Amino acid sequence: MTQSLKLTSRLLHRVLGAPELGASLNSKVSDSAPRNLADIPGPSMPRFLTELFCKGGLSRLHELQVQGAARFGPVWSARFGTLRTVYVAAPELIEQLLRQEGPRPERCSFSSWAEHRRRHQRACGLLTAEGEEWQRLRSLLAPLLLRPQAAAGYAGTLDTVVCDLVRLLKRQRGRSTGPPALVRNVAGEFYKFGLEGIAAVLLGSRLGCLEAEVPPDTESFIRAVGSVFVSTLLTMAMPSWLHHFVPGPWNRLCRDWDQMFAFAQQHVERREAETARRNQRKLEEEDMLAGAHLTYFLFREKWPVQSILGNVTELLLAGVDTVSNTLSWALYELSRHPEVQTALHSEITSALGQGSCAYSQATALPQLPLLKAVVKEVLRLYPVVPGNSRVPDKDIHMGDYVIPKNTLVTLCHYATSRDPAQFPEPNSFRPARWLGQSPAPHPFASLPFGFGKRSCIGRRLAELELQMALAQILTHFEVLPEPGAPLVRPMTRTVLVPEKSINLQFVDR
Ligand code: HEM
Repeated sequence: MTQSLKLTSRLLHRVLGAPELGASLNSKVSDSAPRNLADIPGPSMPRFLTELFCKGGLSRLHELQVQGAARFGPVWSARFGTLRTVYVAAPELIEQLLRQEGPRPERCSFSSWAEHRRRHQRACGLLTAEGEEWQRLRSLLAPLLLRPQAAAGYAGTLDTVVCDLVRLLKRQRGRSTGPPALVRNVAGEFYKFGLEGIAAVLLGSRLGCLEAEVPPDTESFIRAVGSVFVSTLLTMAMPSWLHHFVPGPWNRLCRDWDQMFAFAQQHVERREAETARRNQRKLEEEDMLAGAHLTYFLFREKWPVQSILGNVTELLLAGVDTVSNTLSWALYELSRHPEVQTALHSEITSALGQGSCAYSQATALPQLPLLKAVVKEVLRLYPVVPGNSRVPDKDIHMGDYVIPKNTLVTLCHYATSRDPAQFPEPNSFRPARWLGQSPAPHPFASLPFGFGKRSCIGRRLAELELQMALAQILTHFEVLPEPGAPLVRPMTRTVLVPEKSINLQFVDR
């Protein structure tokens, strides 16, 4: 064990060229005493603030990770007022940190959201809850969402949503200038798909997002999701005393969350009435396969309504931008790599044939190697959550440092997933790198769904949604870029989103 740690450490040195990292990842075998927070390099506070607020750093946080690692090595620290954040951008160190997690890992990345719940007397959902409350919610929700069989139980519901998406894309073609098959701003259409899909799973009802006329409250919900991510960045970057003097971002954040809660509330109340009618039967496995929705199960388990509302609202939000942006990037890259698209199309059609049912899709698609590799590669290049975080509940060792408990540690997933030492030609879309044709990267180099007890609870559902949507879209259309379209780069809006519109042609096959 000690030998392998030493070896890893030596490799790390060579790969990252980081002299300040010291001789070992394990303080027990280190020649020197572990170093503390004060020894960690980093930018001065004025420089950091200038970067964030005067040079557009808030929308380039993902690039600042790469720059920070190049300038200071794999561990650096920045201070803002009294808040200090330690950044870590080496997979070995991220692994070391995550493997020391306790039973209730704290993320703390959405503290302004938790503050909204506290001030507005709302119940936290899984995203914002911490401690024992989080653990209770997680143990109740995980069997309903994370088990592969549970996610596959939603395939029938998702299939109808995907079919409507294909119809929507057909309708949206040629609506403006340009080639007849062009759809402008596909991310906008996929936001509607993301919301329709997660709402169908959570509430069992269709919202009508993919119809020609989108209901106004649904439009407002989608707008609120986009807007809350912008105000989240601003409120998190400001110390809380500043909210009093510059109230705009905080007020916007509260307005957006209140709007999302109100939207969820009307749907949850309808489900409550319906569940009361179906209350006699026992919760059984067949219910999942019959396409029952998650809110129904929560009412059956006698969850308090406020908690159901908090969780449904947060799950709705979590399901929209994540799946939709990943789908936009996937089709963007496939349109620019026709050889990959052709290979993927034939993999999908030979596995599914024509007119396959939802259940066979849900079981066959996760087995398709190229489809899996495409989704992995898209999430490596464009991790929706470019930087995650943890607040250790005890002092932990990370490389040569001892990180005291309660320190906010940012895990720089964007930087590690674009690290050339892990991924040769890191900015190129090469799904083949996941098919065993190149040396395997470190398992913590690309962690799009996080890790461990606090990892993404919607992972199975998201993967299924993405696989089903890609399979149906590629079965119906050849996807081409807009002629002469510029490169689209990502930007940070709490999550990673396209910097400008992605316009694509959907040509009938
Ligand atoms: C491509 C799609 C998605 C990606 C890349 C993604 C990524 C992530 C990441 C990185 C985390 C933090 C994990 C950690 O701290 O270790 C997370 C947490 C979470 N995600 Fe997702 N997510 C996706 C889709 C979804 C969907 C569809 C849902 C809704 C069902 C969802 C619900 C959540 C929730 C509730 C959490 C908090 C879990 C907890 O704290 O226990 N995600 N996600």
